[in-house]
This record gives sequence, C-alpha cells and structure tokens, in this order.
Amino acid sequence: MYRVAAIGGDGIGPEIIAEGRKVLDAAAERYGFDLAWDEFDIGADRYLKSGELVTEEDQKELSRYRAIYFGAIGDERVPPGILEKGILLHLRFCLDLYVNLRPIRLLSGVPTPLAGKGPSDIDFLVVRENTEDFYVGIGSRFHGREKKTLTIERELYQARFNLDIESDADELAYQVGVITREGAERVISYAFDLARQRRKKLTSVDKANVLSDVYGLWREVFSEVAARNPGISTEFTFVDAVTMWFVKNPEWFDVVVTPNMFGDIITDLGAMIQGGLGLAPGANINPGGTSMFEPIHGSAPKYKGQNVANPIATVWAGSMLLDHLGEHEAAAAVLKAIERSIADGVVTRDMGGTATTSSVGDHLADILLKG
Ligand code: IPM
Ligand code: MG
Repeated sequence: MYRVAAIGGDGIGPEIIAEGRKVLDAAAERYGFDLAWDEFDIGADRYLKSGELVTEEDQKELSRYRAIYFGAIGDERVPPGILEKGILLHLRFCLDLYVNLRPIRLLSGVPTPLAGKGPSDIDFLVVRENTEDFYVGIGSRFHGREKKTLTIERELYQARFNLDIESDADELAYQVGVITREGAERVISYAFDLARQRRKKLTSVDKANVLSDVYGLWREVFSEVAARNPGISTEFTFVDAVTMWFVKNPEWFDVVVTPNMFGDIITDLGAMIQGGLGLAPGANINPGGTSMFEPIHGSAPKYKGQNVANPIATVWAGSMLLDHLGEHEAAAAVLKAIERSIADGVVTRDMGGTATTSSVGDHLADILLKG
C-alpha cells in the first residue's frame, strides 16, 4: 500500500487529478497493490478565504510522502505570480525537488507539427534544474538610489548580496540568477545516470557565451561530471540553437540537461512537438525524499468544470509517479493504455476528438482492468 498526497489546485486541476486517480487506482487493482489518497486543500480558494498558500503545517505533512500528485495552480481572481510562486515554486524549493524531469516523446497515433517526423524521431528526456538560476527570487525595482542586502536561503546554501545602485534612469529593475557548484553537480549527475540507461548521449543547454558567470560554472561542472562518466557522449549547445535543433532534428537528442529558466522555455517547445500541452507530463524529483508529479500545462480557468480538459498529461505524470514508487509494470501499462485509447479515438477536443475528460478517464481505467 502506498499513501499518496493529492493536490487538485485550481481551474481544471481537480478534474484532471480525479481522472488521474481513477486510472492509477485501476492500474493498482490490476497489478495487485493499493493506493491511499490524502487530499490537500491548497490553491486559490483557500488563499482567498484565509490568505494561506503553503503553510508550515502543509509543508511538514507533505514531506512525509514519497509522492505528491499535483494538478495545476493559477486563478484569475489572484494577481499573477502569487499562487505560482507561493505554491508551485515554493513546493519545488522547500521540498528541494531539484530535478524537473520532462519526457518529450511522441506517442504513436499523435500528430506532430514537425513534417516528416514520427514517434521514432521524437523520444528524449529534458532534465531541468528546478531550484536555482533566475528562479531564486532575488530582484527588485526602484527609482533613484538603492543600497541593500539581499539574502537567500536554500537547502544548499545561504547567500547575501550587497547592492549599492545609483541610477539616473527613471526606474530600474534587476533580477539575479544563481548557480551553485553543488546545485549544478547533483542535477547533471542525475542526467548522466539517465543517459546511461538510455542511448548514452547527453546534451547540455546554456548561454555561456553571454551569461558567462552562471553558465560558465555550469559548463565547468558539466565537464567534470563528464570526465567521471566515460561511455556517455556529450555536447554543449546554446539555448537559442537548441530551439532550432528541437524542430529540425529532434532525433539527435537522448537526454538534455538545462538550467531552470531555459528548461521552462524549451519544454513548452518540446510539448508542442510531442503533440501539445495536453500530452506533456513532468516530475519534480528529490531522489532522497518527496517527489511531485504534474502535467506541465496550467489551470486553464476558462475550461474549469466543463469536463473538456485533456487528462492525458496528468495520467502520464501518474505513470511517472508509479515508476517512482517502483511499480514499473503498472507504470508501463498506464502508458500503453494511453496509446490504446488514442488508437481507439477516445480523445478530447484538443486532439480532434469528442470525448470528455471523464470518459477518457473511464476508457483508460477500462483498458487497464479488462486488458
Ligand atoms: C512550469 C511553469 C512554472 C515554471 C510556472 C507556472 C511558475 O511554467 O512548470 O513550466 O515557470 O516553472
Ligand atoms: Mg513552463
């Protein structure tokens, strides 16, 4: 029996998590284990009622689970950034979910906008660093003169920046990106381990030609970890070039490792080449602790409660959750069921079908139970 925490969140989040749970429960029944779900009320509604985002208590409780199943966050009633930073990013940081694993894989039967490419061409993993870079939350805006100390505290380090800025500009804003040796090393090592289990090729993405301090350190660490990993072929690419290659030659890629912000950007591109955001799952992993599984799309508030959202990204994230729990057979069966369901034409609007969110979930559960 596995206890799993579930956070539906906002917009379509609760609907897609309900379908994900339905499908994972069917997989559990079929493969002889149990999932016990504990729901956490975290999201816009609670925030609007009580002002709470993720409380210390939530944090403590969530850290006891090996896996969290997460829907989506984001609501029109709350200014942009509050829920994203206060909930999603906060969970990534406080649980130290330093790997953001996003498979870019074209399932059979899914059309891709890339002419002449098929499932055998589009099958790679993006490993996005998930706790550093320009996401550390250090920055501000000001007029005139500013002298202050910025501090940041993380699992790995505490940093203090003394800033003394004088400006004639009407207004000035800045944001600081941080890469630590430890932070780079742990995620790059994780990516090498994945590459070894696959086609043994690892691509590093950065912008070391311009942001040469942060990504210079990233490259240095990558080279050191590469030296300890013979048998894996490696390459450095700049982020602008990699967006071109993802489109032109996706078949070149096996595992791609990238700092946080570039990872955010290139995985939306990846989602499109694998058929759309409705088909793109992600895992936020702390290999030694709690991990969190989510679709990479957002809460799509305008579709809330309409039973039209595509649950596949969430179900696929659920398959990654099962893999993480060690239920590899069940995880593979869930992915197979997704492909079967697509072949059967039981798909939602975004994929050209007429099925509802819940009927896709029912169909997937049926396939798993009846074989
Ligand atoms: C993602 C999202 C988040 C991110 C937002 C919602 C904070 O775009 O998971 O890719 O930037 O990481
Ligand atoms: Mg994103």
